[in-house]
Amino acid sequence: MNGIDSIEVRTASARYDAVVGRGALRHAAALMADRGLRPSACAIVCDAAVEHGAAKSVDDSLRAAGTRSVRITMAATEDSKSLATLGDLCERMLADGIDRDGAVIAVGGGVVGDVAGFAAATYMRGIPCVQVPTTLLAMVDAAVGGKTAVNLVRADGSIAKNIVGSIAQPRLVICDPEALATLPARALRSGLAECVKHAVIADPAMLGWITARIDPILAHDPDTLGALVARNIRIKAGVVGEDEREDGRRAVLNLGHTFAHAIESLAHGEVTHGEAVAIGTLAACRLAPGPAADDAERAVRSALQAIGLPTALPAAMLVERLMDAMASDKKRRGGVLRLVVPHGLADVRVEAGLPAARVAEAWRSVGAR
Ligand code: GLY
Repeated sequence: MNGIDSIEVRTASARYDAVVGRGALRHAAALMADRGLRPSACAIVCDAAVEHGAAKSVDDSLRAAGTRSVRITMAATEDSKSLATLGDLCERMLADGIDRDGAVIAVGGGVVGDVAGFAAATYMRGIPCVQVPTTLLAMVDAAVGGKTAVNLVRADGSIAKNIVGSIAQPRLVICDPEALATLPARALRSGLAECVKHAVIADPAMLGWITARIDPILAHDPDTLGALVARNIRIKAGVVGEDEREDGRRAVLNLGHTFAHAIESLAHGEVTHGEAVAIGTLAACRLAPGPAADDAERAVRSALQAIGLPTALPAAMLVERLMDAMASDKKRRGGVLRLVVPHGLADVRVEAGLPAARVAEAWRSVGAR
């Protein structure tokens, strides 16, 4: 198919393509069939924002190819990433006659991808899943690599994120940059935060590439966005290919995220995940001493400013409370706080047991008191 960039993702358990191209959604059925995926029926799981756009394009393509499909909508909120939603989804698929020869097509952002991906991984002990991300963040990160999950609620009412799930690779990822045409600027910028993260991990030249093209990116130019998505999927595919189950290298993809989760838990919805990742990535650059880390911090700060992402916390937050919030990550990892530390651009390392004073100093560098 003309103009479609196909990136092979090769992990220990699977091998599949992530395709990127303008109008790719209109060819969804053919892209699937080309890869031997001809399900008897498809459950298209989507959120309301894309039901009449991206999800309809996929649906039309399947129907034109003679494949039966049902559309199932779900809310795209963190609250809906629950076992209850998963149960509803699976019961709908059962009622709609989706069987072992069927497939799930997840059309939406990270929440839909996570829940629908987990449904596909578990329904009838696993049926194929096609990820069709419709946010920049999901295209460059969440849809690739097979992480699927829902949240649980702890006894004290707090949310335990992504606590029940599996690593189940999709059979195909379809990214159509035209699907980003109506994405609000704030959501687009949030996706760019993950691109900045990828740049620090493995592709420093991308920082300059993005800042030189920030106008067409924010104007939703599909060719520029397509090139950006493909470049980031290549980075992610490289990392996940080395370490699918996050036993080692994959953990570098959590750069900035331990800081980000702490910010999100105190910000009560005031910051998006991407904004928190932006601030967290900048803070992480202060964890290692040395001129190369200082250079990384300067490069990240200037890219975030050019993009219009925050470089400081939105309101005065206390170092002590942020450090406490970080401890929930610590609980999940055997009592030791592990952080991804940029020692320089393209030189990030996972380190455990960093001195608290250094972590506190990183928080202060982004405005914590
Ligand atoms: N989003 C980080 C990962 O997939 O590992």
